[in-house]
Amino acid sequence: MAPLPDVQVLLGVSGGIAAYKAADLVRRLRERGCAVRVVMTAAATAFVSPLTFQALSGHPVGTGLLDPAAEAGMGHIELARWADLVLMAPATADLIARLAAGLADDLPTTLVLATSAPLYLAPAMNQQMWRHPATQENLARLRGRGVRILGPAQGSQACGDLGPGRMLEPTQIVEALLADRSAAGAETGTDPRSAPGPGPLAGVRALVTAGPTREPLDPVRYLGNRSSGRMGYAVAAALAGLGAVVTLVSGPTALPTPAGVARIDVETAAEMHAAVLGRVGAADLFVAAAAVADYRPAAPVAQKIKKADTQLIVHLVRNPDILAAVAALPDPPFTVGFAAETERVEEQARTKLLAKGLCMIAANQVGAEQGGFERDENALIVLWADGRRDFPMMPKTRLAGELAQLIAERYVASP
Ligand code: C5P
Repeated sequence: MAPLPDVQVLLGVSGGIAAYKAADLVRRLRERGCAVRVVMTAAATAFVSPLTFQALSGHPVGTGLLDPAAEAGMGHIELARWADLVLMAPATADLIARLAAGLADDLPTTLVLATSAPLYLAPAMNQQMWRHPATQENLARLRGRGVRILGPAQGSQACGDLGPGRMLEPTQIVEALLADRSAAGAETGTDPRSAPGPGPLAGVRALVTAGPTREPLDPVRYLGNRSSGRMGYAVAAALAGLGAVVTLVSGPTALPTPAGVARIDVETAAEMHAAVLGRVGAADLFVAAAAVADYRPAAPVAQKIKKADTQLIVHLVRNPDILAAVAALPDPPFTVGFAAETERVEEQARTKLLAKGLCMIAANQVGAEQGGFERDENALIVLWADGRRDFPMMPKTRLAGELAQLIAERYVASP
């Protein structure tokens, strides 16, 4: 069985007879490598004891919002942040109605409002309650907010009825979670907690390059540069935060993939060029933040170069300019470039904006005592055809947020 390793699942149990199956669900999730924490509605505790879930999950179970002992441990906001995904199983008609209304009148509903993790519901109720227009309207509202509904199954019910409303079996729920996560790109680095949501870039497809490239000299050595990838990663994260569907083409970095971003790893400029050109047709926005090597060794050698001679002359050839190639496409996306300069920053950046045919360029000064490579801080001058905006020195994550806002503004205003 495929694992769901290290996924932190917050399981909410509400008050239906299927609550007893949630105990098995905790075991199945843990078998797959998930960490599970359980919270229960008051009604759920009438069906199954919190102690059962405590024993199975290995953690105290939250049952009340105003419990000083629980809040002294992992408080509700901490728990909401801890979760990679929130699963309500069983989700009763009452819980579904409260979630649809955005209520926060107990611990499970409060956690749903307080988390940015994706929400899954495994409904369980009498078939007539399931079919009721009120329930169906509530489900439609929740689906509209991106909530995934798993099941219910058809069949005989505890109340003796026959029809839709049975909670899926625990193994089916785990399979459905797994399928959904991989469909959302979890296996390629996407964290579905930031599936496209509302925001000025909702539904906009953004392609971002970041990090350095490595140009091989021989099997063990390469020409590289000092780019950490931090700025590009922060821009990718900020664009995703504004609702964009972001693909990040990254050179080698030590950074984790930002939440909600699909990442494609490359090493050389040629690989980055191919990865970008192969995807840019489906992009509305292209942000080139990578420090792409301008040159590569003309002929990397197959065996390790020996230190035989006193001099080694390496012949270099030009790499393709990825950004210029994208901007020159017949129907280019909104293109944003970066320019790292050691002097005459604005003048050189404006020249690049025109020469490469870009929509925007973000320029910064690099070198001693400046921001830029390998630093957490940076300052930018952003230029476009008839405008400019200056961002003073600030942490790259904040700067990326400001830049993403500006990109969104200019993108929305673009013809
Ligand atoms: O011309 P220069 O290298 O200064 O331009 C920097 C901008 O162009 C950056 O946005 C960088 O990501 C992009 N670039 C590129 N492909 C190259 C060189 C630079 O996409 N081969």
